[in-house]
Amino acid sequence: MLSKRAQMLKPSPTLALAARAKELAAQGKDIISLSVGEPDWPTFPAAVRAGIAAIEAGQTKYGPANGLPEVRKVIAEITQQDTGVEYKPNDVSITAGGKFAIFAALQVLCDPQDEVLIPAPYWVSYPVMVELAEGRPVIIETQKKNHFKMTAQELTKSITPKTKLLILNSPSNPTGEVYSKEELTSLIEVLKKHPKIIILSDDIYNRLIFEETRVAPHILQIAPELKDRTVIINGASKTLSMTGWRVGWSVGPQKIIQAITDYQSQSVSCASAFSQLATMAALKDSNSDLTSSLKTLKERRDFAYDKLKKIPGIEVSSPGGAFYLWPCIESFIGKSYKNQKVTDSSAFCRFLLEDYGVAVVPGKEFGCEGYLRMSYVLQKPRMEDALVRLGNFTASIA
Ligand SMILES: Cc1ncc(COP(=O)(O)O)c(C=O)c1O
Repeated sequence: MLSKRAQMLKPSPTLALAARAKELAAQGKDIISLSVGEPDWPTFPAAVRAGIAAIEAGQTKYGPANGLPEVRKVIAEITQQDTGVEYKPNDVSITAGGKFAIFAALQVLCDPQDEVLIPAPYWVSYPVMVELAEGRPVIIETQKKNHFKMTAQELTKSITPKTKLLILNSPSNPTGEVYSKEELTSLIEVLKKHPKIIILSDDIYNRLIFEETRVAPHILQIAPELKDRTVIINGASKTLSMTGWRVGWSVGPQKIIQAITDYQSQSVSCASAFSQLATMAALKDSNSDLTSSLKTLKERRDFAYDKLKKIPGIEVSSPGGAFYLWPCIESFIGKSYKNQKVTDSSAFCRFLLEDYGVAVVPGKEFGCEGYLRMSYVLQKPRMEDALVRLGNFTASIA
């Protein structure tokens, strides 16, 4: 009965895991979830106030498909600050979440069998979205020794005459790793030799970085001439702790941005106006809130990293951004736990959740076996408890 497209779909593994964790919690088990990708602090007060005011002022109807002009203006200005490249409000299309911005971009850019380069480990949704756009995901394996960042050589090897797009995500979900200016420069050299490749730069975590630089390094800061073939994706979810407000955006060449807007107008219509106005207030007035959230986040990262690296058998490095740790658990694969084999990262996570009440996402889901994605956005005592449990679990693997 279902279409071939629907048969390709599987539920998001991170959400499926969160659902199982909730089920166990409902049975009365004490579950600590390190699986979900959202901040645990509330939406900043400026956004809440603006959202309520907008609802009261009647901003509760359909709006323009590309978003409210005043909000697009602020997004254009911020993208310009982040990249050093000039953007106008018409270069912006506001969507119902960053996820839909990526989905729509792939829909309007991919023809059947167009190849889309995705460095692994990758955000779980990229390959599925490419397939839903009838494109072909081409996974680029990266190396642990390079902190899972794609090198120029790896990129070059993956390019074919059918390559249409490259997806870049820095800081990365799931590793938290940030490409340096030097690393981006070497990728840019390759991209310059292939002028037809479009770059989809998923910058959703670009302000969640622990360096002094306010934003993560960006290809357009180094090579503004790539502007005409770069589509920037960003949104309110992660940086502004607004995951439920569903506001994201794409910024880029007008032809592509117009197509994304048209795609949205024929599907979800528009992003909610009051959510957009709340986002605008947060973008303008939440810098000090963001600075203090980043301070907390950095403390949490350091705390979790210090504890995690002391667990025998686990290797981990300290990432520069986002809110994930990416520990290597390869040394436990193939060993036994309670007379069962730890066959892969999924089995590891299953045992950890069912017997120790800690939910983390298997690396396999991100295209990289032998790892876990562990979000550290939770209070220190809970994080400590989770890591003690993880240590007890790994100690019982023989
Ligand atoms: C890498 C990456 N890109 C995009 C998104 C989309 O976020 P949203 O749709 O909430 O804006 C997410 C959310 O998890 C993400 O991790």
